Amino acid sequence: GSNQMWGGRFASGPAAIMQAINASIDFDRKLYAQDIEGSLAHAAMLKAQGIISADDHAAIEKGLSQILGEIEAGSFQFSAKLEDIHMNVEARLAELIGSAAGRLHTARSRNDQVAVDFRLWVKRETERTAHALRGLIETLLSRAEEHAASVMPGFTHLQSAQPVTFGHHLMAYVEMFGRDLSRAQDAAKRMDESPLGAAALAGTPFPIDRHATAEALGFGGPTRNSIDSVSDRDFALEFLSVASIAGVHLSRLAEEIVIWSTPQFNFVRLSDSFSTGSSIMPQKKNPDAAELVRAKTGRLNGHLIGLLTVMKGLPLSYSKDMQEDKEAVFDAAETLDLMLAAMTGMVGDMGVNTDSMRRAAGAGFSVATDLADWLVREAGLPFREAHHVTGRAVAEAEKRRVGLEELSLADLQAIHPGITETVFDVLSVDRSVESRTSFGGTAPDGVRAQIAYWRERLASA
Ligand code: ARG
Repeated sequence: GSNQMWGGRFASGPAAIMQAINASIDFDRKLYAQDIEGSLAHAAMLKAQGIISADDHAAIEKGLSQILGEIEAGSFQFSAKLEDIHMNVEARLAELIGSAAGRLHTARSRNDQVAVDFRLWVKRETERTAHALRGLIETLLSRAEEHAASVMPGFTHLQSAQPVTFGHHLMAYVEMFGRDLSRAQDAAKRMDESPLGAAALAGTPFPIDRHATAEALGFGGPTRNSIDSVSDRDFALEFLSVASIAGVHLSRLAEEIVIWSTPQFNFVRLSDSFSTGSSIMPQKKNPDAAELVRAKTGRLNGHLIGLLTVMKGLPLSYSKDMQEDKEAVFDAAETLDLMLAAMTGMVGDMGVNTDSMRRAAGAGFSVATDLADWLVREAGLPFREAHHVTGRAVAEAEKRRVGLEELSLADLQAIHPGITETVFDVLSVDRSVESRTSFGGTAPDGVRAQIAYWRERLASA
């Protein structure tokens, strides 16, 4: 009956509250395909091992494929009373084929069942993430190739530092997303073991063949320890870590796009499909997609911390706490997918204002280091002294409100007599960029070498 204290929200009292806190069907129905796949592999193995009859196996197979059809057609009746996807499917199977349904759960527990279902789901999602990262990297590579020699200001502290090329800047993101890709591939390898057959936690006396079910489900092999098999959620944590780190990278690029697309910077122009107007200010074009990519990183980080906290301090083996693993991962997967798609679209579509970039590249005495380097190379000064002389030249230029390259030779010689006409060769942003030929530097040929490296690496992995 209904309780006076909590009967308002939960009309039928404690039983309703228990069901509300316990049931996971509202979210774990997402695992229906993996659940049925796992059951089909388990049933085929039970038959092959002589644990169930061929007739029972045939009935189970037929029933499961009907259930798959019902779920996909939207006609399946999910019930919260049956808690989760595993019991919903099994109860329907019993309705369809009677007592043979009860034999499917021989040598299996929901503990290894949920572990294998979720692992299959996460492993595939990790592979999908790797694929989407690849797409983003390829888009960045083609934009970087277009702009291998387009000069822009490089920043530290968001202050103009030294000229770089836009291609070089984009290739910095290729390195980051390339590490994310390799993290995803690496995590997918570690997920490649099947927990099915661990049963509740201790294994089973039935003569099951875990190698066969692992192979049927596309895993490299079975997990080695039955207790670990039902206790472990590292695979979910690794997916969330990959997502969070990639999210951090996406948010940094998103932030730069927000900055670059301001009229003050005017380095890039977002396409109409990735920006919005203002309802009151007609001149505005807002980078909403970039802002949302930046913001959604918060959810990814939250999900990682959330599941780490759920898992921390849990005794072995299974505890119901672990049912809290799914919503975090489902939301993170959907969020990351969307972020990657939006970023790939934005980067692919955006217009690049090379003129504004070039103009900005020359501002803020960005070639000052080139002057200092020239003094070291051509006038034999120790770098510290060259730094000091250059500082005086910058102060002079600042006083006259001109660029370093606009000071006259006489002005420069008044600061240091060793300066000659050839100094002007290095005081241009193009020369500055071209001169940075050290491995990994911003010289256009170096940028092209980075692009070639990544094209080859993507082709071979
Ligand atoms: N719905 C549960 C989960 O997601 C399935 C495992 C239940 N096992 C158990 N012994 N109650 O974790």
